Amino acid sequence: MRTKSIDAGAKLLEPGTSLDLQRSAIESLGATADPAAAAALVGAYPKLSSGMRDLALAQLFKRGEWTTFLIDELEAKHVKPNDLGPNALFRLRTHPDKAVAKKANGVLDAILGTQNKAKNQIIEALFPQIEPMGNVVKGKALFTENCMKCHGYKGEGRSIAPDLTGMGIHGKHELLVSVIDPNRVVETNYISFTCA
Ligand code: HEC
Repeated sequence: MRTKSIDAGAKLLEPGTSLDLQRSAIESLGATADPAAAAALVGAYPKLSSGMRDLALAQLFKRGEWTTFLIDELEAKHVKPNDLGPNALFRLRTHPDKAVAKKANGVLDAILGTQNKAKNQIIEALFPQIEPMGNVVKGKALFTENCMKCHGYKGEGRSIAPDLTGMGIHGKHELLVSVIDPNRVVETNYISFTCA
């Protein structure tokens, strides 16, 4: 593909284009060796639906240089680790090319370190506020409205996130960390969810 057709392919990766067209555009971009195609894929990435994101990532993982380019884009903050999702981050960190894996770990630790620091500050600021006894009636209403669309509790709610029955045993400090930063420790059976 020449640069002109890469531009044309990139233009198809807009939310208005049908998924079939987007799929062929991503696959044809992935079939060229031109680094401009990698740039087009990473550039379009944040606008893509989750299925198209997986396909775009599959192309970027096909070539070592493209994967390195993706890591450079992470470092330049053109793509966010949260957009890539835990599976892709895991693949970057454990890349078979040790040099690529090392670079990925360095870049991700630097970015996520800053993110965790910000979340730690929020958590620390909230600690004193959860000391006094809460209001059970208001808490239940808030929980039903905000948490049960993902979590189950005593047979109610949904099951797209871990069932929280008996969760209270962990104590409020530990629970606060889970609520503010649910991705800090993600069990593998829920790994494809990003709750940012
Ligand atoms: C968009 C869906 C979603 C919503 C809404 C949500 N959660 Fe979660 N939550 C998750 C997922 C997914 C996990 C699993 C991540 C993990 O394993 O650590 C999780 C983890 C947790 C955990 C840790 C569970 C464990 O087994 O370690 C607690 C506690 C929790 N959430 C509480 C809440 C509360 C309280 C609310 C409402 C204020 C809430 N969550 C709203 C998706 C959600």
